[in-house]
Amino acid sequence: MSKRFYITTAIYYVNGQAHLGHAYEMAVADVIARSRRSLGQEVFFLTGLDEHGQKVQQAALAEGKTPQAYCDELAADWKAFAEKLELTNDDFVRTTESRHKEFVQAILAKLHAVGQFYKATYEGFYSTREETFLTEKDRLPDGTFDPSYGEVIKLKEDNYYFKLRDHQQWLIDYLEANPSFVQPDYRRNEVLGFLKNNTLEDLCISRPASRLNWGIPLPFDKDFVTYVWFDALVNYISIPAAHGDKTILAASNSEIRNPKSEIELWPADLHVIGKDILKFHAVFWPIMLKAMGLPLPKQILVHGWWQKDGAKISKSTGNIVDPIAVIDEWGLDAFRFYVLWELDIGPDGNWTDAGFRACYNAELANGIGNLVNRSLSMLRRYRDSVVPEQSDELASDMSNFVKATRKLLEQNMLQVALQQIGFLVDHGNLYVEQKKPFNLAKDPAQAKRLDEVLYNLAETCRVLAVLLWPFLPGTATKIYAQLGLTGAPDKFSEAAWGRLKPGHKIGEPAPLFPRKEV
Ligand code: MSP
Repeated sequence: MSKRFYITTAIYYVNGQAHLGHAYEMAVADVIARSRRSLGQEVFFLTGLDEHGQKVQQAALAEGKTPQAYCDELAADWKAFAEKLELTNDDFVRTTESRHKEFVQAILAKLHAVGQFYKATYEGFYSTREETFLTEKDRLPDGTFDPSYGEVIKLKEDNYYFKLRDHQQWLIDYLEANPSFVQPDYRRNEVLGFLKNNTLEDLCISRPASRLNWGIPLPFDKDFVTYVWFDALVNYISIPAAHGDKTILAASNSEIRNPKSEIELWPADLHVIGKDILKFHAVFWPIMLKAMGLPLPKQILVHGWWQKDGAKISKSTGNIVDPIAVIDEWGLDAFRFYVLWELDIGPDGNWTDAGFRACYNAELANGIGNLVNRSLSMLRRYRDSVVPEQSDELASDMSNFVKATRKLLEQNMLQVALQQIGFLVDHGNLYVEQKKPFNLAKDPAQAKRLDEVLYNLAETCRVLAVLLWPFLPGTATKIYAQLGLTGAPDKFSEAAWGRLKPGHKIGEPAPLFPRKEV
């Protein structure tokens, strides 16, 4: 069996509220997963939840629930959220599942056996809210710690550490030799800058079980649980292990035997993450993998952060965008379209309700919706819904749009790919305005010319459906149905011109994006 295109999102803190930022990341990964499938690759798309830690333990306690029961409830909401976005994920990882926990323990045992960890006593400041140790460097000029750290206490405790330091130069060399490892380039430069200007501190990988018991016990010392990143990042390989990936199983000495399947996944092709967790993915993760003797993921694709109305998204200030409410009011595809049209993968974005509505009306109602509706309505009215003789007037223009879109999708350049599709739509709408089929229809001597124009328009709509599929699967499927075609336009190869056969009867045209008042 050949290796699949393996794509992941970050895993989300189970106790966080699912918002625009999470939905965006999921949508980006889903569009990439769908486009790769459309282009003929076998894909494995993983998303899921990060469920351990002190905050979860405390919140569960406050609600009088066991942490597991608390996580189970929240996980159901997150799964419903992913379904609402119609994600095509192939698995959904929860870090409290035994398939994950056992694998994390196998990895920890192996790394411990080869001397990658050591135990040491830490004495210093600790932020309970952020669950993190602080140093003198974290003090503000007035000597206090940032209020976001909450209560800062003095703490002395033993913990286990992972030797990051030894790998610093290797990682610098790797990043320099592999420019595509972190994308966009400016994020890679950020990581290189960090590595060149700082000495890596060894990574604390544990917490005493006496203080935190909602975590995975260290297999070599039951008085400790593993902490955050050694738990969370490992999801990217624990799930392949559970699916029988041979590379991972061999490197982990994993006890997992007889997996249900034997899918080849590792190395991952793409980790889609936000800029705030870049260091963990581009510094800690490669070093962890190297220590395990595993190849590195091919690329870490780093997106920016969404704001709303120019300010941080925050539950406490009420500055939020609820993707579910937007989807319920405007439809899933309108949501997916706006976030991918508005924001390139990399910079920060800003959601405004006015911008969303303007985009809906301009690009969806007046753009895609108008082209499809008038093309098919005219075919129905003037030719009784029957596709006329093939005409290739737009064939070469369309094939240029198709080629450009394909190239961009292969490079995960989603915003520019969507712009290409926008140009195709504009081209189609301009064609209607220039050729004026409604005038041709009035003159029986122009019947052949009208046939040509109607064929070109209907076929343009069909090609459009194929290109749109990864972005707007619902809309693309509706266009196909309105064209009287069955199934989903989910194969890019179908974007070749001339597949709509003369004599074929199309279906019922209906508005795809009803205009709304702004
Ligand atoms: N659990 C860790 C990640 C572990 S990955 C092995 C975590 N979780 S998170 O829920 O806080 O964030 C998950 C993802 O959502 C991150 O990639 C983060 O960048 C993204 N976003 C959170 N808020 C965001 C915005 N406002 N905008 C865009 N993405 C944002 O970190």
